[in-house]
Amino acid sequence: MEPTKILMVCLGNICRSPLAQGILESKITSNTFIDSAGTSAYHVGNPPDPRSIAVAKQNGIPISQFRARKFTREDFKNFNHIYVMDQSNYKDVIGLAETHAEQEKVSLLLPDKKEVPDPYYGGPEGFESCYSLLDDACTQIVKKLNL
Ligand code: 4NP
Repeated sequence: MEPTKILMVCLGNICRSPLAQGILESKITSNTFIDSAGTSAYHVGNPPDPRSIAVAKQNGIPISQFRARKFTREDFKNFNHIYVMDQSNYKDVIGLAETHAEQEKVSLLLPDKKEVPDPYYGGPEGFESCYSLLDDACTQIVKKLNL
């Protein structure tokens, strides 16, 4: 059977979405492919932010091998579910969709229109709360999609 393909998206693809990718990968037992991308090209080719690498490592999840890439229209074809972190990401990704089917693949990662705040400009505590939000959200996704 074809694997379920899930893409995590944030702005830079160095703080939130690589963490979300690593966390979800650590929770799945089924045939699932998970990747992440950014809506901007600011950090293309770079590893995750050292603060994301650190909080993931504290939780036993290796993410330093990931490299940032920019979201492309091809991603609508290659993925079944596209999860974005905030309303700004949502607007950027939906803006690239050309069909209703593509639009329907996109949703906010958190329920009830809640956002995963961007921790980039804050201190390390922002990365801990980010981890905790992402960890809970990924547990819910595994349940919901039966991964
Ligand atoms: P991310 O965080 O979208 O969670 O990867 C950011 C990383 C870099 C920038 C903004 C947000 N930046 O402006 O460079």
